[in-house]
Amino acid sequence: MSTAETASAAPWSNPLRAPGDRRLPRIAGPSGLVIFGVTGDLSRKKLMPAVYDLANRGLLPPGFSLLGFARREWEDQDFAKVVHDSVREHARTPFREEVWQHLAEGMRFIPGDFDDDVAFKQLRATVDELDASRGTSGNYAFYLSVPPKFFPTVVRQLKKHGLADAPEGSWRRAVIEKPFGHDLASARQLNGLVHEVFAPEQVFRIDHYLGKETVQNILALRFANTMFEPVWNRSYVDHVQITMAEDIGIGGRAGYYDGIGAARDVIQNHLMQLMALTAMEEPASFDAESLLTEKLKVLQAVRLPADLGGHTVRGQYTHGWQGGEEVPGYLEETGIDPASTTDTYAAIKLEVDNRRWAGVPFYLRAGKRLGRRVTEIAVVFQRAPHSPFDPKATQELGQNAIVIRVQPDEGVTVRFGSKVPGTSMEIRDVTMDFAYGESFTESSPEAYERLILDVLLGDANLFPRHQEVEESWKILDPVERYWNRHGRPAQYTAGSWGPAEADEMLARDGRSWRRP
Ligand code: BG6
Repeated sequence: MSTAETASAAPWSNPLRAPGDRRLPRIAGPSGLVIFGVTGDLSRKKLMPAVYDLANRGLLPPGFSLLGFARREWEDQDFAKVVHDSVREHARTPFREEVWQHLAEGMRFIPGDFDDDVAFKQLRATVDELDASRGTSGNYAFYLSVPPKFFPTVVRQLKKHGLADAPEGSWRRAVIEKPFGHDLASARQLNGLVHEVFAPEQVFRIDHYLGKETVQNILALRFANTMFEPVWNRSYVDHVQITMAEDIGIGGRAGYYDGIGAARDVIQNHLMQLMALTAMEEPASFDAESLLTEKLKVLQAVRLPADLGGHTVRGQYTHGWQGGEEVPGYLEETGIDPASTTDTYAAIKLEVDNRRWAGVPFYLRAGKRLGRRVTEIAVVFQRAPHSPFDPKATQELGQNAIVIRVQPDEGVTVRFGSKVPGTSMEIRDVTMDFAYGESFTESSPEAYERLILDVLLGDANLFPRHQEVEESWKILDPVERYWNRHGRPAQYTAGSWGPAEADEMLARDGRSWRRP
């Protein structure tokens, strides 16, 4: 937190802090953020609103500056208008004119292509000018919100124009968005290229799931309490299910998604990170190195089943109904190759070969156009080794479970059996719920708010390192190769819970997927 300042330095009052809250907010020191690809969807829907929300919460420094770089004939005020509209539409916190005005004073736009030396010279000059006029002190983060094919050009241009090297006493950081490659070889190549220019501690890879409150809460749940950890192992856990279900299709993202698919899009990164946090040992501390050490140990211990045909499934949605609306199948979506074999659903069984987890399957599944949007981690427990009850009494009793509800209904559920009121002994499943909305009055920050703030603070805890990225590709590559060699994806109707083959995959193990 060396660059953080205390609350007294905040330029604006902080309306979102409860009176009497004695924790000092972490406020970024003097700095600026340059976004490449500022006209893209991510920038408009997530990055710009997150910057505003941080400003509104009083967490940005007074002279904070936001620079956009893109191929558009815009002046600074045109850029500011785009940011304004995106904030109005997507910001989490209320719009306050004085916050907006203050933020807008620090906005600059640089028009140009990524290989345009003149534009990069202008960027350099603008950064120097802002250092002088707004006191950004040479501290800049460069956010590459661009398709991966542009990474090499942008990174090399930053180097060539002296923007990657921090002047004495200041910092320069690179923020990269996934996909970090499409397999192990390309991820290594990308990491090699980025590290030619930036030292590992300068690189912040975004996996926005790590910025979610509920994901960070996995660590709190496990390591701040005493009651969960003693049963969090192979002696009590039967299996773990990690689900990321989306009701949306691929929308306007055909160009990105086709050829990538669900497993590369979200299992390689988001779901494997969730698995690592669920399975890892307690870290020596919560700094970036210690977290990396423990997550990496899990990923290195992951074993794929020998029979990939029986324990992985890929699927593709077909035309159906969702939310009362008729929706096209994947192959009918605009921009999709009608012969595409891209997976819009993927389910994979993994095991973690260590003393804690030996023999406990981790089932990971992700899909588009499923029954509803829900991400959760369900730790499902073994049945009691002996039941003193009449078997008829426990017919309706399932397995105990702890479910971390990542979204949208954020919280934790504990499921266990309870006697049904009445004279006879009958036991049925009940749940005990913790819901964020009921226990806390403040709404959770968006993942991108947390992550952008952490970049400006230089706090790397929530950013995967290249070793984790490469280790995750090592797990996924054989699955993708297998799928490539074996026919077409199974089909499932839009709005359903995925292909029948995925149900059969669990049924072969004597288990079934949860219907969240
Ligand atoms: C992104 C994927 O990483 O996560 C998208 O590329 C997906 O395909 C998105 O829709 C989901 O994010 P969230 O935060 O809405 O669960």
